[in-house]
Amino acid sequence: MKIYVCENYDRMSEVAANYVAAQITLKPNSILGLATGSTPEGLYRQLVEKYNKKEIDFNDIISFNLDEYLDLPKEDVNSYYTFMHENLFNHVNIKEENINIPEGNVDDIESYAMKYDNKIDSSGGIDLQVLGIGNNAHIGFNEPSDTFSRYTEVVNLTPETIEANARFFDNEDDVPKKAISMGIGTIMKSKKIVLIASGEEKAQAVNDMINGRIDPKVPASILQLHEDVLVVLDEAAAKKIDKKLYKKI
Ligand code: F6R
Repeated sequence: MKIYVCENYDRMSEVAANYVAAQITLKPNSILGLATGSTPEGLYRQLVEKYNKKEIDFNDIISFNLDEYLDLPKEDVNSYYTFMHENLFNHVNIKEENINIPEGNVDDIESYAMKYDNKIDSSGGIDLQVLGIGNNAHIGFNEPSDTFSRYTEVVNLTPETIEANARFFDNEDDVPKKAISMGIGTIMKSKKIVLIASGEEKAQAVNDMINGRIDPKVPASILQLHEDVLVVLDEAAAKKIDKKLYKKI
């Protein structure tokens, strides 16, 4: 794991955006794995800026999102479909047919989930996966568990995640209790991973991911086994890790 620590959220977003932009430049038909949530908003803003300055082109990019809530209409303001379009896709020239976001409203969700993994594999696999991390160290919506999930599947959100995500909804009861998420196995097959985290509430999860033992109760800890992970943190998220472990950038 390579770890960079940045002064603040904006710098963290800039460093991560430069990394994603470099991937797009080096391989214009990259398969990108994308995350939602508050953390990548700045990263997506910066990618849009780079696109507007003609520094990067999304014409041949294919994307696969990590997750989506179950039983929320696609057009709902809180769906990840809406989030991705508002924050990135509506502002760049990615082709709609190259966008893949798991659907939370399909009849046979198990076979749909299997097809989602197959589609990632048959597209050539994810070149660069963008990840955030939950306060409980989840990645995607893979919550602390007794085993690491291998494949894309339906997951139950923990009360902690429901509470953390309630900030986007009118009230906590409106937060869906289930989601469809890429599995940890799916995520680990990505050729490269960039994980971003900001804020003190992530500091414990970040420390457990980097320094804890590999344990499905800390889903992000499995990233210790991946050979190409860049972790980009702001100072608050890096608060619990030893300065010797990271580069200040
Ligand atoms: C969302 C996702 C989640 C978030 C995590 C952090 O697609 O994969 O793992 O990255 O819940 O969310 P924020 O960034 O809102 O703190």
